[in-house]
Amino acid sequence: MKVIHTVGEMRAARARVADLGLVPTMGYLHAGHLSLVKRAKAENTAVAASIFVNPTQFGANEDLSRYPRDLPRDLGLLEAAGVDFVFTPDAAEMYPPGFDTQILVGGVTDRLEGAVRPGHFAGVATVVAKLFNIVQPTRAYFGQKDAQQSVVIRKLVRDLDLPVEVVVAPTVREADGLALSSRNSYLTAEERAVAPVIFQALSAARAHFDAGERDAEGLRQAVRRMLAEQPSLTVDYVSVADPLTLRELEAVDTGALVSTAARLGATRLIDNLILGGSAPR
Ligand code: PAF
Repeated sequence: MKVIHTVGEMRAARARVADLGLVPTMGYLHAGHLSLVKRAKAENTAVAASIFVNPTQFGANEDLSRYPRDLPRDLGLLEAAGVDFVFTPDAAEMYPPGFDTQILVGGVTDRLEGAVRPGHFAGVATVVAKLFNIVQPTRAYFGQKDAQQSVVIRKLVRDLDLPVEVVVAPTVREADGLALSSRNSYLTAEERAVAPVIFQALSAARAHFDAGERDAEGLRQAVRRMLAEQPSLTVDYVSVADPLTLRELEAVDTGALVSTAARLGATRLIDNLILGGSAPR
């Protein structure tokens, strides 16, 4: 496994392989990331992972400075998983002096996470476009946990005709349903005990849908009711939306995206599921 820090070296390495899968990450890897690597290995001749805690996608009051980092551990996991290249640039390599360009994806970025985290998706779209230009992957792999991010990246690729196939893979969960996230490491023991209610609440919406409920507000209320049972949770939003436009629905059909974001102490957690079980394209 080759560990690469510069754009020039990454381009040179890329030129030596035919098709390449890329797993973009911000490090502090977990089994969710490794499931993306496994999928990328099955579908490509070579696999690259990027590790870059992208400062431009964090708001001024967010957790950039305390975002968990452990590069030696991450490199060990990626090597064991059979990754060929790890691109881990520093901030000056990605954003050299004078850097002053942003990609603003319209339409799907002003709601849900975008409404609570202004500027977040401009940071994500810009860094992902840069990673695609530097690594030039054939396919790039993202997790369904960040559902809105996947929608934004698919739109970025479509709107700018980027020659990359975007693959979105299922969320990996703990045994009690908590979606894997690097941010779970912030949770205290008490908060960790409460956190599974997020997936339980989403699952309650799914159960209502499976029982015939087609009123979106009824499903939102089912989620809110269960979250409200945990007073230590502060809910940012509960959404039942179209999986492509992310517009809130009135009537629900198979494929609708049920999502929520909630804060437990200093930790913000997001999760979602697709009604009827199919993944959005
Ligand atoms: O999902 C993430 O880890 C990040 O948002 C990404 C896609 C690597 C961009 O920094």
